[in-house]
Amino acid sequence: MAILPLSYHPDPVLRQKAKRLKEKDINDSLQKLIDDMIETMRAVHGVGLAAPQVGISLRLAVIEVPQTAAAGPLVLINPEIVSRSGEREVEEGCLSLPGFRGKLKRSVKVTVRARDRNGRDYKIRGEDLLAEALEHELDHLNGTLYIDHMEEGEKPFKIEPEEG
Ligand code: NI
Repeated sequence: MAILPLSYHPDPVLRQKAKRLKEKDINDSLQKLIDDMIETMRAVHGVGLAAPQVGISLRLAVIEVPQTAAAGPLVLINPEIVSRSGEREVEEGCLSLPGFRGKLKRSVKVTVRARDRNGRDYKIRGEDLLAEALEHELDHLNGTLYIDHMEEGEKPFKIEPEEG
């Protein structure tokens, strides 16, 4: 496994609509990419990572939050939101915008349909942090960043003192 280099805002790869994976794409090299993405997410203490964040414009993401701890990291291939409900205000960060967080609204509950790493169809229903992670990572696949959801005039705030 390997830790992959991250892409940072304003890298254009983060603004592209990522491509769907086909059956033939679910192969050994994809398994390696998934393992590398999980290792990278853990190395930087992220709760999720989407392929565009490692410079790969494919509809693939991994998520690891306390709710998924028992079953292992979620692998989402070609995920689609089936339904969402509720609204709550969150403070969110992103590995592609290090050192900042911002306030925005996310759904309370989200249901997503995706394929797992073996290409099997499944549905995942998430609440709170898992719902937020699902919305955040699926946004990445459409070239959307959390800053796009902030109210006009709101700015992300720094969470670390500026270096150098
Ligand atoms: Ni992100």
